Amino acid sequence: MAVPVIDFSKLNGEERAQTLAQIANGCEEWGFFQLINHGIPEELLERVKKVSSECYKVEREENFKNSKPVKLINELAEKKNGEKLEHVDWEDVFTILNNNEWPVKTQGFRETMAEYRTELKKLAERVMEVMDENLGLPNGYIKKALNGGDEDNAFFGTKVSHYPPCPYPELVNGLRAHTDAGGVILLFQDDKVGGLQMLKDGEWIDVQPLPNAIVINTGDQIEVLSNGRYKSCWHRVLSFPDGNRRSIASFYNPPLKATIYPAPKLVEKENQEVDDTYPKFVFGDYMSVYAEQKFLPKEPRFQAVRAV
Ligand SMILES: [Fe+2]
Repeated sequence: MAVPVIDFSKLNGEERAQTLAQIANGCEEWGFFQLINHGIPEELLERVKKVSSECYKVEREENFKNSKPVKLINELAEKKNGEKLEHVDWEDVFTILNNNEWPVKTQGFRETMAEYRTELKKLAERVMEVMDENLGLPNGYIKKALNGGDEDNAFFGTKVSHYPPCPYPELVNGLRAHTDAGGVILLFQDDKVGGLQMLKDGEWIDVQPLPNAIVINTGDQIEVLSNGRYKSCWHRVLSFPDGNRRSIASFYNPPLKATIYPAPKLVEKENQEVDDTYPKFVFGDYMSVYAEQKFLPKEPRFQAVRAV
């Protein structure tokens, strides 16, 4: 069993119907799928890899060596008491937004990542339009919901991560299991070093490295908007003794002030009886709960914001 790989360019040709169906299946049955021929120039992706790896070497590696996980794992390994590190991740990460501080010492980082983010945001919006169509929603519905209205207000961020070689991979995760809080997530993962797994039907499945593919997964807000048709799914990153996994995840989230609720059309159509699985809530309230409960099941989070 492997995460579906979908040729996005076929949406524009004779195989449009099959491609729509593949994406519907990816959203409904998996919550994860990989897009190839997605329209992001390969030349740009090559530059993204280059500047991200250089940035790690130039601006991050030394800090990681002195970081909390390194210190904790060395202490734990000495104890040899069979415990695992449960509250940290073996990850070097920073997030870039339109208006925060970016690395400055790596040549070309800013220009390349700005260009990449513009392209990825457009791809996210194309994917949302496909979701609209597959769900029977008006074109632009999900985009509008994730922007909190008609304006361009989405919260679009990019997490640049590395998972450096770990001397004791059995003692710590690269990234602990969680579902993503937001809307649509677009991941550009390492060509060779795997480690990302998603949970399907109780089984952890590798999200296999595929050079220059973009992995799409749906977050908790898409689950709410779709009234549970598209479930956000658990995923995690394992740590490994060798290889330095590069992982660049962009997320298209609502602004904190947006109100999120299931699309009325999907509620009326599919749930004649009153179903209160997903409440109406303000996304900022959800994020406050998520900050405390990221690595716990999502269902109590929905219940928590109902009460706010
Ligand atoms: Fe995630």
